[in-house]
Parts: sequence; C-alpha cells; structure tokens
Amino acid sequence: MNAAIRAVVRTAVFNDCEVVGVFQGYQGLVRGDFKRLHVRSVAKILGRGGTILKSARSEEFRTKEGRMAAHAHLLSNEVDGLVVIGGNGTFTGAKLFYEETGFPVIGVPGTIDNDLAGTDFTIGFDTATNTVVEAVDKIRDTADSHNRLFFVEVMGRDSGFIALQTGIATGAIAVMTPETNIDVDELVQILEKGQQSNKTSSIVIVAEGHPAGGAFEIAKLVHQRSNQYEVRVTVLGHLQRGGDPSCFDRVLASRLGVAAVEGLLSGKHNAMAGFVNDSLVYYPFEEAIKNKTASLDDEVRIAKILSI
Ligand code: F6P
Repeated sequence: MNAAIRAVVRTAVFNDCEVVGVFQGYQGLVRGDFKRLHVRSVAKILGRGGTILKSARSEEFRTKEGRMAAHAHLLSNEVDGLVVIGGNGTFTGAKLFYEETGFPVIGVPGTIDNDLAGTDFTIGFDTATNTVVEAVDKIRDTADSHNRLFFVEVMGRDSGFIALQTGIATGAIAVMTPETNIDVDELVQILEKGQQSNKTSSIVIVAEGHPAGGAFEIAKLVHQRSNQYEVRVTVLGHLQRGGDPSCFDRVLASRLGVAAVEGLLSGKHNAMAGFVNDSLVYYPFEEAIKNKTASLDDEVRIAKILSI
C-alpha cells in the first residue's frame, strides 16, 4: 500500500494538485484525521510493508451519520476527489458513499486475497504468495525428513486465490478451497493414492474459507477416518500480510496509483483502476466487488493434474 500511496501523492503533485492523507482509512475520514502530504512525505516508503497512513475497520463509516460526517470533513478541507485503496469492504463503502453524496471517488485494488473482478492482480497478492511459498518450502523439509503429512492454512477470506497459487507453486498433494470442492472423503482417497505411489511427504494447502473448516478442523476429520498419517498443522496467519513488497507489487502499485489519479482528473468516478491482460481498465465498484472465482477454473485443473 505504501507504494500506491507514494504513486498517488507524486502523480497528484506532478499534475499541480495538493494532497492530504487520511489516517486510518474510513475511520479517519469520519473523524477528519487529515494531514497534508508533500512529495517528500512519501520518500523511502516504496519498499516498506504496511501503510504509513495506517488502516482500520470502521464501524462508524457503516452508518449513514458516519458517512455524512466524512463528507462534511472532505468539503470543509476543500478536497475535490478521493482515492481509496483496499478490497471488497473498502469498495462496498466507496460505492455507497458515492451514491449518497456524488463525491468523486476512485479505487486502487489492494488486498492479498486477489478476489476483485476487473483486475488480474491486486496489490499484495504477489508478496503474500511469495511469503507462503518460502514458508511451505521450509515446512517441506520436515515433512520429507519425517514422512509426515502437513496441513498448511493460508489466508484469502472466502476465496482460494492464495491457496491455489501457492498449492501449485509448492507441489501440494491437494488444495482445499471453496472453489476446488474437494471434501474430506475425497481428500482421504487422494492421500491413500499418494501413499500407494510412494509419496514420502505430503502438503495439503487449506484456504481459511474452506466450507469444512480450517486446517486444524480438516486434519482432525482426516485423522478420524484414517490414523495412518503422522499429521502436523501450520497456520501461517498474519505472516502473509506483512514484509517488504516484491518487485511485482511495487510496480503494480505504482502503475495503479498513477492510473487512479489520472482517472480521477479525467472524470472517472465510482470505479476501480485495474489491469486486465496488462491493459488499464476503470471498472465500476459494483462489478469489482462481485466474486471472480470462475477465473480459477484452470488453476483448479492444473493443481489436480500435477499432484498425482
Ligand atoms: O482480506 C485480507 C485478509 O488478510 C484476509 O485474507 C483475512 O481473512 C483477513 O484479512 C484478516 O483480517 P484481520 O487482520 O482483521 O484479522
């Protein structure tokens, strides 16, 4: 997100606009927590994880009073346009805010979940998946040395982008996501087949949003059906949300930040900047927040073929 903030600030200044940063997301908008940002306010943040503006899940912005207070703060600070960076929740709020106030707002897709339609990649997904791959490669060493079965739970809320991408990249025997539709009985069959074909270690990647539960729950269900495996569970958790951004994410965030400001200046509102097949698109918030899981079909197929 820092790389996107930097790009937004610098593109605005490049176009002779003044910029104020809003602290703690919508929370800061409701409370008027604004601070003027200059070109050098965003120096040396390009390669830092997190966000210098901080972030918060705001209950107040969910209320009409909260959104009206936010609008009033924008007007009294003579703000003409708003760039929001975030995922589903952020854009759901932005859409409502635009509909109620008509205030010009544009979005930058920033979520490790990669679950927004209208962009092939969201900021953070590449960094998070690289972190997962590094962790699973290390776990594989123990799995292999001890002939163990590991369940590794990854984030993604109710989508399986992180799980599928990393499952393919680490050679998982199975990837349990809402989209792969593998239930526990099928998983047990897959594991048995693996044993029969002399697999010496197995990693199952579990998306946190799997309908059968998280990695601990699924490991317990597998153990109830068959106790022939020495099972361990690792939940990677917020490790996936931090760290220095990858080169890909820095460039993506920079391109999207520039696109957001240029879009706003040319009258694009109520939409998110995104890249589809490397072409810039401005995609309506309403469409962006719809699930894009259909595009995972090929990953699901490939994960299945390669894990035999
Ligand atoms: O939406 C991004 C995400 O990291 C999800 O993958 C995860 O479920 C959630 O946020 C975690 O949220 P929190 O940090 O509030 O626990």
